[in-house]
Amino acid sequence: MKGIVFTEFLEMVEATYGLEVVDIIIENCDLPSGGAYTSVGTYDFNEMVSLISALSNTTGISQQNLLYSFGYYLFEGLVSAHPDVVSSYKNPIGLLYCIEDHIHVHVKKLYPDAELPKFKILSRTDNSLEMIYSSSRGLYALAHGLIVKTFEHFEKVVKVDYKLLNESGTEVRFEIVQNG
Ligand code: HEM
Repeated sequence: MKGIVFTEFLEMVEATYGLEVVDIIIENCDLPSGGAYTSVGTYDFNEMVSLISALSNTTGISQQNLLYSFGYYLFEGLVSAHPDVVSSYKNPIGLLYCIEDHIHVHVKKLYPDAELPKFKILSRTDNSLEMIYSSSRGLYALAHGLIVKTFEHFEKVVKVDYKLLNESGTEVRFEIVQNG
């Protein structure tokens, strides 16, 4: 998993819960990196699993809720790191429609070792999008937060429903409807 995901995660934890909680969760995890991340590095995905689990134990908030909040936070970090990728989009549905064929393709060129999810588009209208998230990492709650924040970024209101297509959440169908 790319370092930007870890640096943004620890930034969110510090902004929301304080530096003390950052120190506690790093101490409670047995991290090969020791918790020292750079945005361009690559780290074992299991380190993120440990950090989310430790944050959940420390705060009492479920892992899925934390992943959702993190996705919501991460969106602006990704936009700041790659402003050129995002600036060509005029609306949120257009952006989400192009994650698979443009945005993540560009990311993969920049970072060949990036591990990205797949998005299969089932239907698209001017104000709706139906797509299937699939990734062995099962980070659908992160995707949910990213989707909601994409609409806020364009100052639009959205309703997002999702359905797990298997127990582990490695395949999840999203139904996205923009309201105004
Ligand atoms: C705004 C432009 C975007 C950029 C530059 C971007 C880039 C990235 C990068 C660098 C990663 C980390 C890959 C790794 O750790 O190896 C990632 C992962 C991910 N991205 Fe994007 N992304 C963008 C938008 C989105 C949006 C809007 C969604 C919403 C569905 C999304 C869904 C995900 C998910 C769920 C992951 C986690 C990996 C997984 O689930 O397997 N991304 N993205």
